[in-house]
Amino acid sequence: MASLIRSARLLRRLHSLASHPVSPLTSAARTTAENVAKWIEENTEVSRDHLTPELRLRLVTQNCWLWRARAEDCPYPDPFWAFYWPGGQVLTRFLLDNPDVSRGKTVLDVGSGCGASAIAASMSGATYAIANDTDPIAATAVALNARLNGVCAATPPSPAPPGSCEICTASLVGRLDARWDVVLLGDMFYDDGDFGRAILDWADDLTTRGTAVLVGDPGRATFRERTATTTLRRRLLKVAEYDLPRRCREENSGFTTGAVWQFSRVV
Ligand SMILES: C[S@@+](CC[C@H](N)C(=O)[O-])C[C@H]1O[C@@H](n2cnc3c(N)ncnc32)[C@H](O)[C@@H]1O
Repeated sequence: MASLIRSARLLRRLHSLASHPVSPLTSAARTTAENVAKWIEENTEVSRDHLTPELRLRLVTQNCWLWRARAEDCPYPDPFWAFYWPGGQVLTRFLLDNPDVSRGKTVLDVGSGCGASAIAASMSGATYAIANDTDPIAATAVALNARLNGVCAATPPSPAPPGSCEICTASLVGRLDARWDVVLLGDMFYDDGDFGRAILDWADDLTTRGTAVLVGDPGRATFRERTATTTLRRRLLKVAEYDLPRRCREENSGFTTGAVWQFSRVV
């Protein structure tokens, strides 16, 4: 699977995903959350081998058969939730190191994947943490990972009690909601199409309305190039930088560090 992640073919699929959310699964057997959860439990392993070992996460690791599988062998397309991306790792590390960022806040984690950042926000005292990913399989992965870390996961229509991690599969990019105090974008600049620009425009709008927007990024070209304009560069403050752990460096050849950026309202 790791070799697939690096392949041009998968990268093309990564790029297209940004503008075409994953379709709902058709097979009844595959769509029940129970079956999906069972499949994830049987085909991933619980790992702490990442930058936030406080968190136990179900991931596809080198010990899993899926690691060496072809994309078509996985019943779920583009299982991004099965990997803990470098931008997400540094952002989650930052949240755990700085609990005041989340404490008492409503925190939205966009493109939550395995859910690590939203779970860390909950563990840091967020009143509400919302794990948002348009991939419905990611929703099940987040619920499993939340439970592994003692965080209650709430899937609509179940109400989300304070302190829980609410799971949301709607596409929220572009929406403005005064409820969100903090918006997290962990490794969301993997796409070299228009998606990166749409996210940056949205982040700018959210910031202007008083929402704190944090980006975790390992130095992806889209983020570097799209933020190179003077105005955006001046609006972005690097608040932390971390060395990536060995396993993460091996899985993401080329990246050795990751930074956390915050949008500022001052131009
Ligand atoms: C590169 S992964 C990052 C996952 C996680 N943040 C991390 O760092 O480990 C990007 C995630 O964004 C999700 N995604 C793509 N487009 C989205 C959208 N419009 N809204 C919410 N999630 C989206 C994908 O399904 C995928 O799980």
